[in-house]
Amino acid sequence: MAIASSSNLTANATARLSGWLRHLGVSPMAFDDTVSLLNPLLAVHHLRARVVARQAETPSATTFVLQAGPAFAGLRAGQHLIVGVTIGGVRHRRAYSPRAIEGQPGRFAITVQRQPEGLVSGHLHEQVRVGQVLDIEQARGDFTLPSPTPPQVLLIAGGSGITPGIAMLEQLQRQARSTRVTLIYFARSEADRIFAEALNRLATSWPSFRYLPIDSVAHTNVAGAPAAPQVLDRALLDGALPQWAQVPTFCCGPAPLMDAARTLWQAAGASAQLHLEAFAVARPNGDPLARHAVHILRESVPRQFIAPGNETLLVAGEVAGLALKHGCRQGICHECTCRLHSGSVRDLQSGQRIDGEGQPIRLCVTSAMSDLHLESLN
Ligand SMILES: Cc1cc2nc3c(=O)[nH]c(=O)nc-3n(C[C@H](O)[C@H](O)[C@H](O)COP(=O)(O)OP(=O)(O)OC[C@H]3O[C@@H](n4cnc5c(N)ncnc54)[C@H](O)[C@@H]3O)c2cc1C
Ligand code: FES
Repeated sequence: MAIASSSNLTANATARLSGWLRHLGVSPMAFDDTVSLLNPLLAVHHLRARVVARQAETPSATTFVLQAGPAFAGLRAGQHLIVGVTIGGVRHRRAYSPRAIEGQPGRFAITVQRQPEGLVSGHLHEQVRVGQVLDIEQARGDFTLPSPTPPQVLLIAGGSGITPGIAMLEQLQRQARSTRVTLIYFARSEADRIFAEALNRLATSWPSFRYLPIDSVAHTNVAGAPAAPQVLDRALLDGALPQWAQVPTFCCGPAPLMDAARTLWQAAGASAQLHLEAFAVARPNGDPLARHAVHILRESVPRQFIAPGNETLLVAGEVAGLALKHGCRQGICHECTCRLHSGSVRDLQSGQRIDGEGQPIRLCVTSAMSDLHLESLN
């Protein structure tokens, strides 16, 4: 359920004031700049949120509790929102899966897993402190629980892929306690399992909740012998929830976990029950030696670069020295969208080939399969 911005009165008043001022020739950005002098959270067009708490969850995962202003429209469990930060003078935007803080309008938490060499996750961990203000965008996405809530739900998570799952769990616990929920959660070890304590507590206090924490790397068993890591397979599912193929399932985690889920649900003829959320775009696996000539028309100015098959078009263009318009680099914001007039590309999110007939494609999640003619739409 959306956390309604209870400061709706303030939100409406601020939005109305912005509307009136626009009639008087004051631009939305000028309005935001002015109210931001009083309070950055009052901005209507460029949303902002203040960090009000931060807490380490594991050695590499930190939760940031954020307070957004009245223009924030709330969120549904499982959705994501974009957080923007400036690093070395350059804006970077990444998606995070927030969970609502019950009873506190506009307040939500994101939990950020630090990625090796990760630019934004590293910056959030190292630089962002309580009191700082971050740029955010409205929550969106349809990786959300069905309405009405089904009698049973299966959640499968790997590593930081627990973040949308914990948001759903908290929502179910508050609003649909009788829904039977099973969570299978893979992590390298208990110490790496984000929200481990909270999940253990839920498992003992909520009778409808079944929790299966699973170590995903090899470890030694009680007899000191090496034990093979457990993976997502049919035996695990049958043991956890025999009727799994009939149950709405939400899976988020690393690519191998999601590939395994896709294959299992396909084999069971139950793909419609499986909902997947990927945190990282699959790497293109086309021919690294291919030399595809890419022509992009932007504001009537033609630009050209060469793209191999194993890079996204965005990266290939940047390597060639072009400043291509982009935002999230994750296929979410659509700021890198171009029209594909001719040639073929691979969409890395769906795995599908797209042949040029004027369709929109996103440079950050496509790779070239032939020479291309594109037109920038932003
Ligand atoms: C819908 C959605 C929701 C998301 N929700 C969350 C969330 O709640 N918590 C969270 O921590 N992250 C989440 N992410 C991932 C997040 O947006 C960033 O991708 C992540 O923080 C890494 O960004 P970075 O700038 O640190 O890494 P970059 O500098 O962009 O990349 C550094 C290196 O890490 C690799 N990498 C990037 N992301 C991942 C990943 N997720 N897994 C494995 N390798 C990766 C890259 O391939 C690269 O090699 C979500 C992503 C999406 C698309
Ligand atoms: S940069 Fe956001 S969709 Fe490509």
